[in-house]
Amino acid sequence: MPIRNTDHAWGSINKAFHWILALLIIGMGFLGWYMTWLPNAPGKIKIYALHKSIGLTILALVLLRILWRQFDRRPSELPMPHWQAVAARGVHIALYGVMLLMPLSGWLFNSAGNFPLQWFGLFHVPSLTDGENPALKAIAGITHLILFWVLLVAFVLHAGGALKHHFIDRDSTLRRMLPWGTRAEKSSPPPAMTATHSTPNSSSPTEVKS
Ligand code: HEM
Ligand code: HEM
Repeated sequence: MPIRNTDHAWGSINKAFHWILALLIIGMGFLGWYMTWLPNAPGKIKIYALHKSIGLTILALVLLRILWRQFDRRPSELPMPHWQAVAARGVHIALYGVMLLMPLSGWLFNSAGNFPLQWFGLFHVPSLTDGENPALKAIAGITHLILFWVLLVAFVLHAGGALKHHFIDRDSTLRRMLPWGTRAEKSSPPPAMTATHSTPNSSSPTEVKS
């Protein structure tokens, strides 16, 4: 598997960013809800601290991912109706936006509440505000919550779209993003349109090894 993206496949760095961040963010959605329902006890503070440390890790990974994206071209789009390509692009932009703003709003909420912040107990993370600011804390708290719902809707559209491509359109949109995905289709017409041009010994014109 190539490290960088090719014209037809996602590279291993992009796949690693995608799946590590997807797992962390899905886990954080559950952890966020779970922790706010916990009764006040010493253990609750530890779980909040874990939530914040993982959230800051997500922020750092997303910044690295966006930086890497500037140097690694995206594989070309597979054939699909124009509106679907536009919708998919819009959902990707929304996901990038939420991945950045969700941890930032959490950090701002924490800062405006004047709560201490450490990264896994290893070092102190600076505050984003000049001391306590109840009005800003309220805005950041609501923003964190609203962004979570935006994330949920974007995620359902995104994962639903990937499954539709896989099971209904039967193209390689999902396969070429899977960690173990080894084959990818070129952006070419469906097999039915090219079958008459292939010989019995030739490999499928729509597939290349990656
Ligand atoms: C992608 C990263 C993150 C996700 C998906 C996430 C998700 C959530 C969710 C679902 C909740 C419960 C709903 C709510 O009250 O808003 C929550 C609450 C909270 N999050 Fe995050 N969070 C993230 C990052 C962070 C970061 C980086 C911090 C702080 C540094 C943070 C601090 C908090 C706090 C303090 C609460 C409790 C809010 C309250 O008690 O009202 N979060 N988060
Ligand atoms: C089980 C859930 C998921 C599946 C099946 C999935 C599947 C995919 C697939 C197949 C692609 C490639 C799309 C293409 O070639 O145009 C992709 C890209 C992407 N995914 Fe996911 N994904 C999942 C979860 C997530 C989550 C949780 C996030 C972030 C919150 C996310 C963010 C993205 C982004 C931003 C891209 C665009 C990458 C780029 O263009 O740089 N995905 N995903």
